[in-house]
Amino acid sequence: MNTLSASAIGIFLLLLFLCYVGRTTETQVPATNITPGSLLHPATYPTHWSSSSGQFAFGFYKQGSGYAVGIWLVDAKNNTVVWTANRDDPPVTSNATLQLTAQSKFVVQTEQGKQKLIAKAIASSASMLDSGNFVLYNQTKGVIWQSFDYPTDTMLGGQSLPSGGQLLSSSSDTNHSSGRFRLKMQDDGEFSLYPEFTTDTRRDAYWPSDIYLGDKIVKGKAYLYLNKTGLLVSKNGSNSVISSHYGPYSGDSVGSNQTIYRATLDPDGVFRLYAHDKGSESKKVSQWPWDDGCEVKGYCGFNSYCTFNDDKPDCYCLEGFDFIEPDQRTLGCKRNFSIAECRGEKGSAAAPYYNMVTMLDIQWEDHAYFGAYMEHQEECSDSCLADCNCWGALYENGNCLKQGMPFRYVSRRVEGFSANTMFLKVGNITHKNRNPNDVFMPLPIRSTSNKAVVTIIVITSVFTLLLCSMIAISCHLIYKIRVLRLQRQMETGNLGLNEEVALRRFSYSELKRATNGFKQELGKGSFGAVYKGSLYKSRRSIAVKRLEKLVEEGEREFQAEVRAIGKTHHRNLVRLLGFCAEGPKRLLVYEYMSNGSLGKLIFGGEKRPDWDERVRIALDIARGILYLHEECEAPIIHCDIKPQNILMDEFWTAKISDFGLAKLLMPDQTRTFTGIRGTRGYVAPEWHKNTPISVKADVYSYGVVLLEVICCRRNIEISVSVPEEILLSSWTYNCFVAKELHKLVPREIVDKNVLENMVKVALWCIQDEPALRPTMKSVVLMLEGVTDVAIPPCPTTSISM
Ligand SMILES: *[C@@H]1O[C@H](CO)[C@@H](O)[C@H](O)[C@H]1NC(C)=O
Ligand SMILES: *[C@@H]1O[C@H](CO)[C@@H](O)[C@H](O)[C@H]1NC(C)=O
Ligand SMILES: *[C@@H]1O[C@H](CO)[C@@H](O)[C@H](O)[C@H]1NC(C)=O
Ligand SMILES: *[C@@H]1O[C@H](CO)[C@@H](O)[C@H](O)[C@H]1NC(C)=O
Ligand SMILES: *[C@@H]1O[C@H](CO)[C@@H](O)[C@H](O)[C@H]1NC(C)=O
Ligand SMILES: *[C@@H]1O[C@H](CO)[C@@H](O)[C@H](O)[C@H]1NC(C)=O
Ligand SMILES: *[C@@H]1O[C@H](CO)[C@@H](O)[C@H](O)[C@H]1NC(C)=O
Ligand SMILES: *[C@@H]1O[C@H](CO)[C@@H](O)[C@H](O)[C@H]1NC(C)=O
Ligand SMILES: *[C@@H]1O[C@H](CO)[C@@H](O)[C@H](O)[C@H]1NC(C)=O
Repeated sequence: MNTLSASAIGIFLLLLFLCYVGRTTETQVPATNITPGSLLHPATYPTHWSSSSGQFAFGFYKQGSGYAVGIWLVDAKNNTVVWTANRDDPPVTSNATLQLTAQSKFVVQTEQGKQKLIAKAIASSASMLDSGNFVLYNQTKGVIWQSFDYPTDTMLGGQSLPSGGQLLSSSSDTNHSSGRFRLKMQDDGEFSLYPEFTTDTRRDAYWPSDIYLGDKIVKGKAYLYLNKTGLLVSKNGSNSVISSHYGPYSGDSVGSNQTIYRATLDPDGVFRLYAHDKGSESKKVSQWPWDDGCEVKGYCGFNSYCTFNDDKPDCYCLEGFDFIEPDQRTLGCKRNFSIAECRGEKGSAAAPYYNMVTMLDIQWEDHAYFGAYMEHQEECSDSCLADCNCWGALYENGNCLKQGMPFRYVSRRVEGFSANTMFLKVGNITHKNRNPNDVFMPLPIRSTSNKAVVTIIVITSVFTLLLCSMIAISCHLIYKIRVLRLQRQMETGNLGLNEEVALRRFSYSELKRATNGFKQELGKGSFGAVYKGSLYKSRRSIAVKRLEKLVEEGEREFQAEVRAIGKTHHRNLVRLLGFCAEGPKRLLVYEYMSNGSLGKLIFGGEKRPDWDERVRIALDIARGILYLHEECEAPIIHCDIKPQNILMDEFWTAKISDFGLAKLLMPDQTRTFTGIRGTRGYVAPEWHKNTPISVKADVYSYGVVLLEVICCRRNIEISVSVPEEILLSSWTYNCFVAKELHKLVPREIVDKNVLENMVKVALWCIQDEPALRPTMKSVVLMLEGVTDVAIPPCPTTSISM
């Protein structure tokens, strides 16, 4: 005990001495020109070379019980290490030296006369620059090596990371060896974050959540660049900014021109941007992903889940698992029961030995090997219990997602996420008392004295063995192929599952944040205003619709409607991504359509789409409506088809928006209503006549829109020169009767037959009498030229306005 305290005192004295030495050697060593022969020692002067500003230093710093060589940001209290040489090598002792040798090699000389190369370059001088870059020069002062080319976990202002380049986090704040997370710069100008030892696949990325993986590769190589004023951008080969990654707190990061910026992939997997002002503490400016901790995939190891504990992420074992190392909770957990035989019989396979336990509020971001819609949670739980491959299942929005071991990327969060239930297959106590090996023991062969029998047994055993191994090998191969196929299917989303699962529930605060406080209004419709936003996780642009004037109804009904909308998937419909229902607040989240509305396109007057384009758009819209009327699960009457409700995506595909919302306003669509519906100029006459509304009302509106698309003008245009041209529908009919259709599209080269065909379809659609109007199915067939179009009668005697 005495010796122990004595050595403790010894270590204490040694530390005191080291501190003292550290203080006295703070006088700066000029480092603009380090010449061959220059020497550094870990514990005696000089320990480091400083940059001329004194803000950066290169040399030995304390690491564990020894020293490491690196670059750090000098601070009165705590230095920040930004680069480490040979970071995974063990620390060196106080007897080591660092030398730019006379043979112009740059090495650390360790105590046993061994050398460790820091840079493979024949340098004639070196310099610690004010940017934090340590460079080696050749005779003509050309840079032949620089620490900026070999980043560890940090980028400094002025530093770039080429595409394909990586940052690797450190083990901990005090141990700078390779840690558990990596940042990868992609060819497409985006960077993504993964747990270490994963491939670059979507399922492992935790930033962004929907990575492109180079399907828009930038010509001339993209790179990530942190500029001196703290802006993190991607640039292309000609140094043009192609993407700005500046995080959520833009605006509030103004430093002086002395501020040093640093972006570090921290040991917890979060990529943070910091500002260091001389003399004050470092400030966090921005971070990816937005939330700390549990958003980071792999923060907690296998079979554990992440949850917030005092605002800090913490790891806990799933039911039935214990920590591998109770002191290192992020390491993961191991099973605390033994595995029983699974007979693979349907229904009762594992039942005697296993129970299903339930955990609530679980988020699980790994891919499932199986997913299907199931009405009740219990079905999901039972299905997993009966499935030998299943060790856990997540019940999410009616989908049952089954998974095998080990469990990854599990977290438990309450705020802002839908409460998903997880079922875990856990061995029960009876089983623990059994010897699990029992069931695998082969039956002993009865020995007989008869030699022949023995020979026969030996021969047959050999044969059986051969046969068995052949069967086993082929089974294994078949299994492999199946698993591969399944994986591929899942990656391409062929299970048809991903789409539906993707309908997400958002919290109001999340959407407020995504839209920057509902700042940018895109437009106002009959249901409320629409705002532009972006999902912080994926930077995907979204349109958020804040619903007003809703029929009073409970959250359940609202959710049911929204889910019905969410189930529609068609190329010509705007996708619903999610919703929010909090108290009286109802919001819908749609994919963002970058090219605005059809109204803007055809009435905007900037650059009208050419004829062929318009023909295509007309058909797109018709197909979208046809899907709503006849092809989706429950027919949907849109009730408000007009050019403002048809949006153009980035490839100029027309997509119908706002469908399904009429039902939220008027629960019973077959009823007669007197309320104001639809938009003047597009509503069918029956709206004014107290007759029930059918899908034919949409056909009428489509007819009007079709005319507008053909002519690129509004149905009612007061400012025309000739009074009879004011109402497009009647003017069109007159032109049709007079065989002067070319008047509708002046100064344009169009296919006369196609034009006539389209006009005839439109005139059929706008018939006053709903029964005369064709169905959308025939509209599509007629527009496609599959069926002929009869001569339409006059739509009306007094066209409804
Ligand atoms: C630093 O972390 C690595 C990996 O986690 C470990 O092997 C090494 O012993 C640690 N070094 C010190 C000085 O703690
Ligand atoms: C300095 O770093 C140590 C270890 O990381 C930390 O415990 C301490 O709080 C830091 N001090 C300051 C002033 O930041
Ligand atoms: C340093 O070198 C001296 C003399 O070679 C030796 O006695 C001492 O043990 C060494 N110290 C360490 C920490 O290796
Ligand atoms: C020094 O390096 C520069 C840049 O790498 C190169 O252009 C120049 O030829 C080199 N000079 C010598 C003498 O090697
Ligand atoms: C960093 O980028 C921003 C935006 O492009 C620019 O305003 C600023 O001047 C840049 N800073 C430097 C030092 O180039
Ligand atoms: C880089 O981007 C700019 C602007 O987007 C573009 O004009 C330029 O051609 C691009 N350069 C390369 C090499 O792709
Ligand atoms: C920093 O700004 C101050 C005043 O704004 C100026 O006097 C000084 O020259 C600037 N320093 C540098 C390095 O640009
Ligand atoms: C296994 O874990 C469960 C809960 O996680 C616990 O109740 C049980 O006692 C554990 N069994 C053993 C043998 O550690
Ligand atoms: C273990 O599970 C089986 C099947 O569910 C059940 O019959 C048995 O009673 C369970 N044993 C215990 C101790 O829970």
